[in-house]
Amino acid sequence: MKGVVLAGGLGTRLHPLTKITNKHLLPVYDRPMIYYPIQTLINVGIRDILIVTGGTSAGDFLRLLGNGKEFGLEHINYTYQEGEGGIAAALSLAEYFADGGKICVVLGDNLIERNVKRAAEAYGRQERGAKILLKETPEAHRFGVATIEGDRVTSIEEKPAVPKSRYAVTGIYFYDSLVFDMIRTLRPSARDELEITDVNNTYIARGEMTYDFIDGWWTDAGTLESLHRASHLVQETGANKL
Ligand code: DAU
Repeated sequence: MKGVVLAGGLGTRLHPLTKITNKHLLPVYDRPMIYYPIQTLINVGIRDILIVTGGTSAGDFLRLLGNGKEFGLEHINYTYQEGEGGIAAALSLAEYFADGGKICVVLGDNLIERNVKRAAEAYGRQERGAKILLKETPEAHRFGVATIEGDRVTSIEEKPAVPKSRYAVTGIYFYDSLVFDMIRTLRPSARDELEITDVNNTYIARGEMTYDFIDGWWTDAGTLESLHRASHLVQETGANKL
């Protein structure tokens, strides 16, 4: 399985921090933010990684990461997203890289305490479809929110004012090659983005979506509060534990 880190977008929620640099290059405790999602992929045994960058300072990713020697990699692939068309728009740029195979996608501002090995192995055995990872949170309204019935995900709502559950959809996703056909059928949402939640709901409608939970803490780092919290969590407990 190949891995994709989505680090495009303009990071406007973090202005002025992101006025002259890219959100994913900002520090989270002792490392640039992008180090964490890369490590998440490496910890499930993925060696072939594509970074989708965008916005300002895209060249700095190359200077920072090079060919991934620091992560024990021989090579890193890069591509550039123009504008801020949404997570699904960024993902569409990975079609050529994925080359018809399964992929694990991690949002560039998502950090985890442990690893997602169990889910990756289960997805490896899954014949087709997608898998999402959920985490119970009192702040579900800030995220995609999943409703589950037994072992089925029945729906996902993007940032609902009144969440139907406490299960946030985290930014770690597993997809088969159908994802790229689905993205081609999407229409921009009210915030003028191609939404990953619309992709996930398409898989749900086809009966091809499974889920698991994340062990340990999970956080995004895309707002001032969550960026601050992420640094604290990493300082206190460490991240990406095997
Ligand atoms: O953190 C998990 C949440 O991420 C999910 O629960 C939501 O369903 C999902 O929509 C997303 O919500 P956000 O609104 O917080 O996503 P945001 O716009 O902050 O983008 C998250 C990352 O995705 C960002 O760090 C880089 C990447 N991205 C985003 C956009 C809009 C891109 O690569 N390109 C883009 O155009």
